[in-house]
Amino acid sequence: MKILAIETSCDDTAISIVDVKGSLTKPVFKVLAHNISSQIKIHQEWGGVVPSLAKREHGKNLVPILVKSLGEAFGKGEGKEKKFEEKIEKKINKILEREPELKEQFFAVIPKLKIPKIDAIAVTKGPGLEPALWVGINFAKALALVWDKPLYPVNHLEGHILASLATPQKVAFPIISLIVSGGHTELVLSKDWLKYKIIGRTRDDAVGEAFDKVARILDLPYPGGPEISKLAATISTERPRLLVNPNSQLRGEASQFRLPRPMLHSGDFDFSFSGLKTAVLYLVQKLKQANKFDEKIKAEIAYEFQQAAIEVLVTKTLSAGQKFKAKTIIAGGGVIANTALREALSKMASVNNLKLLIPELSYSTDNATMIALSAGLRLLAGKSQKSNTFKADGNLNLK
Ligand code: KG4
Ligand code: ZN
Repeated sequence: MKILAIETSCDDTAISIVDVKGSLTKPVFKVLAHNISSQIKIHQEWGGVVPSLAKREHGKNLVPILVKSLGEAFGKGEGKEKKFEEKIEKKINKILEREPELKEQFFAVIPKLKIPKIDAIAVTKGPGLEPALWVGINFAKALALVWDKPLYPVNHLEGHILASLATPQKVAFPIISLIVSGGHTELVLSKDWLKYKIIGRTRDDAVGEAFDKVARILDLPYPGGPEISKLAATISTERPRLLVNPNSQLRGEASQFRLPRPMLHSGDFDFSFSGLKTAVLYLVQKLKQANKFDEKIKAEIAYEFQQAAIEVLVTKTLSAGQKFKAKTIIAGGGVIANTALREALSKMASVNNLKLLIPELSYSTDNATMIALSAGLRLLAGKSQKSNTFKADGNLNLK
């Protein structure tokens, strides 16, 4: 079955079309289209994502990305223009009443498209920024109406967990999943497909948020994750950068600075990153006062901050894996695009004989393929609930 998926939870407008075959235990996914339009340039000016701007940009981008995706998946998509029935037109006017720009494009373009050979539409219901989520949801509802297709709401976090299944994988349970994104830092236990128990989460900032805030302290542009990662990579380390063992002598050897590893030994699976960020802030203030804050020092701080965050993430993921006798570790979310974190997790998994699944880079940060995968697996499992009336839920939890 072919699923068209839409993702607008933050500052990426994404549409994918994925062919889903096989069974729940042996799913086979074929990605027919995978498009993401990033709004980074627009938000960069403000140093972070501005929800009202994100909403406006999603409204502008969705129809063009849809047309591009349909073209990639099915070839030329224009047919004879078919006007909407009056009843349908009225309903669309209502559904899209808060998205003027999207509505205009919808009426101009959608009637000219052939009804695509898709079996379902999936869209992110949450968590995320509600104004941004609503645009995708309203667009999905309008499409489901005019094309007469079933619509399925998807949890964005389940999408991040399942993103690494885009390439065929053998999965053994229990699974410990580490979600690391701009809004979330969670360790999740799964004893079976589509079953989740959150065993730990951040008590304050998400790790991606910490990367972004520390980047701002270091005068780096938004989003901070990739910038810190680039800067940290300029610090040469002759010895392996990976520091799995918290007692390792190697810790922080490439930096003259030492930052805290918050909650490393807390005995639970929770995280805290706001103190780490504040430690960077005080350090930078002190260095600036002493006129010692230069490019080299900045790189060393970026490196040490990244090391501190990675050490906590990897150590806690490993102890969760050991405690729950995990056979598979899955990592997902935007921060998993970080090369040093990928390397550290890989080393930890191979040393401890754990199977590790990490999504390809293009499925790591926000995308719609992962949303299609989630809807697809749920359909294969007979666990999906179609709906045309659901609401955006900015704080949606994994269950
Ligand atoms: O999953 P995602 O695209 O959006 C959310 O659901 O939040 O994650 C975005 C987060 C941002 O905080 C960004 O700075 C971070 O992922 N990120 C990175 C890297 N690439 C993106 N963090 C560290 N290193 C990276 N290379
Ligand atoms: Zn995300």
